[in-house]
Amino acid sequence: MPAKKNRTNLISKFQAALKQKLTAEKYRHSLRTADWAKEIAGFCNYDPDTAYLAGLLHDCAKTSDAGYLLAQAQKRRIRLTKKYRENPLLLHSPLGAALAREEFGVTDQKILNAIHYHTLGRAKMVKLEKIIYVADYSEPGRRSPAARQIRRLLRKTGDLNQAVKIKKETNARKFGETA
Ligand SMILES: [Fe+2]
Ligand SMILES: [Fe+2]
Repeated sequence: MPAKKNRTNLISKFQAALKQKLTAEKYRHSLRTADWAKEIAGFCNYDPDTAYLAGLLHDCAKTSDAGYLLAQAQKRRIRLTKKYRENPLLLHSPLGAALAREEFGVTDQKILNAIHYHTLGRAKMVKLEKIIYVADYSEPGRRSPAARQIRRLLRKTGDLNQAVKIKKETNARKFGETA
């Protein structure tokens, strides 16, 4: 991570850009995810600034325009698996990793992977991937019973793996078996 002053500037710059790109609701969700990712990082001994940045950018390609997502993904040769063909809106995750690099200049592969896998996850996720996977799903604006359960669990025990398991189970019901 860059020095503190640069980091603060970078975050302000990213926030301003996201505010332009995203709907007001998705922008607020991004801020909440970033704050919550930072808090989760504190529970499980991870660098809070990296978690904040990944949380902030995780939905940088979020849109409800499936045609745009498909075209942009094809342009970057993102592999269109069955899940992506059936639900093109999920493409905002791998496309988000590409845009974080292209538009925001992020080069930290850990952050890019955390963005790429924030919706569907994957086998053998590293800690930052788990933090973002869970933070997106359970930030305080999320009202589902599973989201509430994860918030309670993390605040009480900091058990990130258990939190991942809860989201995986609900994802499996929603999208079929993932990772
Ligand atoms: Fe997302
Ligand atoms: Fe999100």
